[in-house]
Amino acid sequence: MPFRTLDQLVARGKRVLLRADLNVPVKDGRITDLTRLQRLCPTIRELCDKGARVVICSHFGRPKGKRVPEMSLRPVANALEGVLGLKVRFAETCVGPAAEQAVKALTNGEVLVLENTRFDPREEKNDPAMAKELAVLADVYVNDAFSAAHRAHVSTEGVAKLLPTYAGRLMQAELEALEAVLGHPNRPLAAIIGGVKVSTKLGLLENLVGRIDVLVLGGAMANTFLAAQGVAVGRSMQAVDMHGIARDILLRAKQAGCEVILPQDAVVAGKQGSNAAVQTVPIRAIPAEAMILDLGPSTVQALVGRASGWRTVVWNGPLGTFETPPFDAATTALAQAIATETQAGRLISVAGGGDTGAALQHAGAADRFTYVSSAGGAFLEWLEGRTLPGVAALGG
Ligand code: 3PG
Ligand code: MG
Repeated sequence: MPFRTLDQLVARGKRVLLRADLNVPVKDGRITDLTRLQRLCPTIRELCDKGARVVICSHFGRPKGKRVPEMSLRPVANALEGVLGLKVRFAETCVGPAAEQAVKALTNGEVLVLENTRFDPREEKNDPAMAKELAVLADVYVNDAFSAAHRAHVSTEGVAKLLPTYAGRLMQAELEALEAVLGHPNRPLAAIIGGVKVSTKLGLLENLVGRIDVLVLGGAMANTFLAAQGVAVGRSMQAVDMHGIARDILLRAKQAGCEVILPQDAVVAGKQGSNAAVQTVPIRAIPAEAMILDLGPSTVQALVGRASGWRTVVWNGPLGTFETPPFDAATTALAQAIATETQAGRLISVAGGGDTGAALQHAGAADRFTYVSSAGGAFLEWLEGRTLPGVAALGG
């Protein structure tokens, strides 16, 4: 890897500015998922054990440069304290006198969380003056926020130019997993792309078809491709304005020798919801008033069979509306098959982006994948083949 890791950092007594992603999901003022905090713990503990003074910065929500009380990091810092099992201090600002004083009060092995970097309007502008104010708080910069690395902001990019930089353990793990998939993959390499947001994934498909051997399409993504080829998909969710692009991607795949697997059958219902009348139908027999809500059992069986021949898989997006059983069946069955192959040492499996992690957790398979990314948008941008500013800033 072309960047320094914590192995190279002599941390004792150093003030370490740790860019974390504390942007946890919240509903009705409560944190609904602690995964992001849990995954930061190895880096924080290692730095504390080595005697660093850990100064954590992060964004939280999109307060657009204003101090929005519901987007204060204070409750997140409290939650982090619980997850970490170590005292976590808090500073009312992320730069300036309050932050400077809080940092000064730290002793070796202590942890401080700075207030939301996006309360400062200069953060998202990548303002060099703010970068300087942040840099004076620390001796070195450790970035452990792969999931925010697609943003060229002060805390992810600007400040990295002013301090010696290192990748934290989570950043390192993310980059190693991604390298195993698109850097030097064992082949055949398959991508499973599902989910609903078709328009945001076309760039990713365009990049992938030139690099992978097999493309499996599911979710609303598949509906668009089916409809683009003249299959009647009834009232299924699809992006009608993307038909031309979908056909173009299929052509490119063909030229590049990438096999595209589309559903041969589907589980449909008249409306979304678990008590809807559910039917399994061949893909050319979708009733006009029905919606495709999951891949059908023949498709799933074929995919499970194929999975045993793959050597690397990258997965983004559920195959059906997995939150509402029985439309979780395809996602669960394929996730289980991939998990089993992975555990048998025959497959490298990497998943991420959006609600993919939640879908694999629902399937009871997440722990048995090679790696499940903590990132949403950053994972997708990486699949598009883009350089992530936060990763580029780590040196190289
Ligand atoms: C995320 O949750 O995807 C990251 O924290 C980035 O957040 P953002 O999309 O508001 O930049
Ligand atoms: Mg996002």
